Amino acid sequence: MKTPTMRLDRLLANLGYGSRREVAQMVAAGLVTGNAGRLRDAGERLAITPDLPNWLKINGAPVDPPPPLTLIFHKPVGVVCSHKEPGRSVYELLPPRWRRRDPVLSTIGRLDLETSGLLLITDDGGLLHRVISPRNHVTKRYLAILDRPLSGGEAAVFAAGDLVLEGETDPLAPAVLEPLSPTSAWLTVTEGRYHQVRRMFAAVGNHVVALHRDRIGGLDLPEDIDAGAYRIATPEELAAVFAGP
Ligand code: URA
Repeated sequence: MKTPTMRLDRLLANLGYGSRREVAQMVAAGLVTGNAGRLRDAGERLAITPDLPNWLKINGAPVDPPPPLTLIFHKPVGVVCSHKEPGRSVYELLPPRWRRRDPVLSTIGRLDLETSGLLLITDDGGLLHRVISPRNHVTKRYLAILDRPLSGGEAAVFAAGDLVLEGETDPLAPAVLEPLSPTSAWLTVTEGRYHQVRRMFAAVGNHVVALHRDRIGGLDLPEDIDAGAYRIATPEELAAVFAGP
């Protein structure tokens, strides 16, 4: 495939460093350097390769990674996943510059306000689509802490593939319940319906008091990422999303 190229001013503006005029001023001031020293022409076309930060610098600091960029984010409770909902959003926990990127960074699916855990954030529309498309059956595993003890019949109800949530007409796809204690369980689902896990437990007469997602496909939330923190996903980690379990 041909390596894409882009004008320097457009590239830096798309990475959130400022308007095209502002970044052209940074170039004119000699703040932007490449392999061979200062870049003088804001209109110069550069090859957009993943190693860009290794050689393109602003004020001596590596530029941010170019698209496609995907983050593994440990969502804390108390933040929302949408720009539109009221309240603090996960995007406010990213560097301000990353919120001005074009293409924009979006969450792959959503976790609700009170749910914590593994959230992927990406500017790669194709990846987003592949993860959320029901056709790909990418599993999501949740740890649910419950208000009342499990009765013992829930696993069969969730596995049957005929549970219809209140207000819906389409039955849920089969889901796997693995009890951990009388009041806690793993629940693995393949869909991403609104408040799905909480509503599934409500449908069997229980109530979720805490919910945490620890796995998407074969990708576990890395233990070294604290709540509210994130890092860039490696190609191997992205492959794991589609590799099972
Ligand atoms: N199910 C829920 O109820 N909430 C989430 O955040 C995710 C799945």
